[in-house]
This record gives sequence, structure tokens and C-alpha cells, in this order.
Amino acid sequence: MAGASTWKGTGERVVVTGASSGIGAAAAVEAAKAGATVALVARRADRLAEVVEECRRHVPWCQMVVADLAELALIDDLAAELTEVLGGGVDVLVNNAGVPKRRGVRDLSPADVEEVMRINYFSPVRLTLALLPGMLERDHGDIVNVSSMGAHMVAYRVGAYCASKAALEMFTEALHVELAGTGVRAHTFVPGTTLTEFSTPKDGNDPPFPTDPATAATAEEVGRELIRALGDERLVTYATARDEATAARKAADPNAFLAEMRSIFSAR
Ligand SMILES: NC(=O)c1ccc[n+]([C@@H]2O[C@H](COP(=O)([O-])OP(=O)(O)OC[C@H]3O[C@@H](n4cnc5c(N)ncnc54)[C@H](OP(=O)(O)O)[C@@H]3O)[C@@H](O)[C@H]2O)c1
Repeated sequence: MAGASTWKGTGERVVVTGASSGIGAAAAVEAAKAGATVALVARRADRLAEVVEECRRHVPWCQMVVADLAELALIDDLAAELTEVLGGGVDVLVNNAGVPKRRGVRDLSPADVEEVMRINYFSPVRLTLALLPGMLERDHGDIVNVSSMGAHMVAYRVGAYCASKAALEMFTEALHVELAGTGVRAHTFVPGTTLTEFSTPKDGNDPPFPTDPATAATAEEVGRELIRALGDERLVTYATARDEATAARKAADPNAFLAEMRSIFSAR
């Protein structure tokens, strides 16, 4: 759960990637509700248009930019476009876009690993590197990288996905420490199971695991928590208290935690 926050909303210029559905869409609307001007990024123009319309009910000059974040060579141009549509600067970057990779290690191909790393790791890192100089120049900024409980729990048949999020977390930790003393903060935001399109059948993935709606969070709950985490001085914010407790249990004794998981999964 989020700690004390300095997030004010009004007047802030916010980029949210992966804002056409799920957590990103909810976070974009939440940021606009707080008075921020939001630039929403994703590939599906029709879905982005619906979300930007909702954002504009709160702040009429919110913008959408259609882009494929897997096109790494175009990220610098995207950063320039985002800066321009937001009137000359980005105050908050929420690297939320992400894809699953549900495939066990026995079946994983090098192409699978590269695909998930491209979207979940290389792309947010490049967008961060492109926007960071402007933030440092203005001595003002927040970078929020959306990870996953997959990086804190067990990588059962999602190893390449969890590794992409673990890489993103370590990069965020480097930002967090190295930017100390500047006006730019970096956070990791960690959702657990959330009811979105993420856990639906997708090309290049094994079928999704069943989700228990009774224990999963909604996109709105998680998006709200993500925006509440803005301005938090701590490195990591978990979307729910339950996720935080699970991560603490694994961190306290990883061998015992994984032994428990191995016995659960070997029974399947
Ligand atoms: N749902 C969960 O249980 C869960 C748990 C832990 C972490 N997360 C993380 O939360 C984040 C948001 O996921 P979600 O649950 O909200 O799922 P979602 O509804 O599927 O949202 C994923 C977003 O990423 C965008 N995206 C994917 N590939 C893209 C690409 N190549 N270029 C541009 N945008 C791209 C999608 O937009 P387009 O398809 O329109 O491009 C969409 O807006 C992800 O980073 C995910 O890893 C989710």
C-alpha cells in the first residue's frame, strides 16, 4: 500500500503507457481526476480513444499517442512527441505497458524470451532514458515502473515474464538510488493478480491460469493505488496489503517459501 505521498495532480504532465485497458487505463483516468494532463500511449487507437475521452471529462487537454512500444528504434521519437503534446515537458512517466509470457521453461524459445524482454524491459528503460534528461534539467519528475508479484513470488511457467519484471525492478532500484538528491524519484509499483485482459488467451502464450475473482483486485483499485504511490519517497509500493505480506513471507525465507510452492505445483 502507498505511504505518504506528495502527489498533487493539478498541473502535472503525466505519461501512462499501456493506457488502452486495465491498470493503465484506470491509472490514466485517476491521474486526470486529480487534475493532471495525461498523455496515453498504446497500440489500439479505438480503445485509447475511449479512455482519453473519459480523461478529458476531467482535464480537456489530455492526449493520446498511438505507438508500438516494441519498436525500440522509435522510442526517442515517441519521447519527443510526448514532450511536445504535453506542452514541453513530462513530469511523471508511468511505464505500465506489458505483456505476459505464459510458457514453461521446457517449451520456452529464445524468441519468446526476447519478445517479453523487449516490451517489459528494454522499452520502459529506453523511454526512461529518453525522458530523464528533461526531468533532471527541470529538477522535477517521477518515474513509476510497473512490475509484478511474479518477481516476488514464484515463476511457475512464467519464468521469462518474471525475469523481465525482475530486470525492470533492479533498473528502477538503480534510478532510485542514483537520483537521490535530485528532484526526480523512481518507484517500483507491484500489482498482484488483477482482473484485466492480461489473463486472457493470447498468441504466443499457454492458456491463462484460472483467476479467483474473490482474491483478485480490480483494475480501478490497482490504478488508484498506483496514482497514490506517486511522490512516495520509498522504492517499492505493493498494490495490496495481501501482496506486500506475500512478498515479505518469501523474502523472509525464500527456500522455505519455494519448497512450499514446489510441493503445491508438483501435485498438479
Ligand atoms: N493483470 C495482472 O494480474 C497483473 C499482475 C501483475 C502485473 N501486471 C502488470 O500490469 C501492467 C498492465 O497490465 P494489465 O493487467 O492492465 O493488462 P492489459 O489490460 O492487457 O494492459 C496491457 C497494456 O499494455 C499495452 N501494450 C502491450 N503491448 C504493447 C506494445 N507493444 N506497445 C504499446 N502498448 C502495449 C496494451 O495496449 P495495446 O494492446 O492497445 O497496445 C495495454 O494497454 C503490465 O505491465 C503487467 O505486466 C498485471
